Amino acid sequence: MRKTVRGAGWAGCLLFAVNAGAWAATAEREPFGATSDGTAVTAVVLANDNGMHVRLLSLGATIQSLAVPDADGELADVVLGYDSAQEYLDKGGYHGATVGRYANRIGKAAFTLDGKRYPLEANNGPNHLHGGVVGFDKRHWTIESVESGSPASVVLRLESPDGDSGYPGKLTVRARYALSDDNSLRIDYTATTDKPTIVNITNHAYFNLAGADSGHGILDHVLEIPSRRYTPVDETLIPTGELRDVAGTAFDFREPRRIGDAVRDATDPQIVFGRGYDHNFVLDGEGLKLAARLHDPHSGRTLELLTSAPAVQFYSGNFLDGTNIGKHDQIYRQGDALCLEPQVYPDSPNKPAFPSARLNPGDTYTNTLLLRFSSGSSD
Ligand code: BGC
Repeated sequence: MRKTVRGAGWAGCLLFAVNAGAWAATAEREPFGATSDGTAVTAVVLANDNGMHVRLLSLGATIQSLAVPDADGELADVVLGYDSAQEYLDKGGYHGATVGRYANRIGKAAFTLDGKRYPLEANNGPNHLHGGVVGFDKRHWTIESVESGSPASVVLRLESPDGDSGYPGKLTVRARYALSDDNSLRIDYTATTDKPTIVNITNHAYFNLAGADSGHGILDHVLEIPSRRYTPVDETLIPTGELRDVAGTAFDFREPRRIGDAVRDATDPQIVFGRGYDHNFVLDGEGLKLAARLHDPHSGRTLELLTSAPAVQFYSGNFLDGTNIGKHDQIYRQGDALCLEPQVYPDSPNKPAFPSARLNPGDTYTNTLLLRFSSGSSD
């Protein structure tokens, strides 16, 4: 199936696109309704020759669906989400969204930069979570480009004004999603600022490799995280500042391990604080490196996640409490899905020993996530 590029100013390319059989993956815009204030939401669907496709929304630069083949070519949507735009605003949970300006928590909802204290919204107990009440996940992003080819891609842009949700500096953010024929989805986040600020942007997809509608949870998924250390937290999920060795604990995923094995292990206070896993794993090394390998024995699907970020938050979906109804009339319950969020450590702005989240004018913030899907035989 060959489709054409559709996008502002692309009409002249139409004939070329139809004839260009070499173009493998396709990118198409389609409407995705509107939010209750009347703002239209646009979806861009990227599809490759294997049938894999991903739907990205202008609302929140969100992954709304992600259909991945198994070894028999059978497609399943492997992310949770909602059927309509307004549900993303009303029901929350950051499903598939781009979270920022600071993903994860900032302790006591404040930080100090160059001697000045910046109070933020406390939207998670005493702490600040995922950029506040109206974080990047709830913003209408501008679609900058839509391109078919190898890969097919979409670039979305958000202007976050100086003082937005309490953060200093006017931030220009771009999210580029690119789907390749080798079943990999690459996400590149970049940001620039006009004043020193802090930035931590990631994607908050909830994965279930068996399929969001499969009826299987993720406790049978087998996870590998190469980290030697993680950041233990207090009871409000703020890192204590310690980098703790994973050896011999519920947090040792250096060898592939079934998530269900220790997710209920109340002998570890860290599991109790998180109601399961909700922790930041330190990634050693530079550049694009493995953050996690996730395998579902039911479907045979595997996700390899690589990132340029210094850490990955593994969240086992502990706060999915059955109160939200998602896509295709599915109730979302604890253990239905998990998040793997490459990022800077939580609360870095208040922890001088942690890698810095500071961004200066003239510099470009980057965070790259490479999601490589493959399939073997199922159990
Ligand atoms: C956090 C969880 C939080 C969830 C909200 C995750 O990134 O680690 O603690 O409840 O986001 O969706």
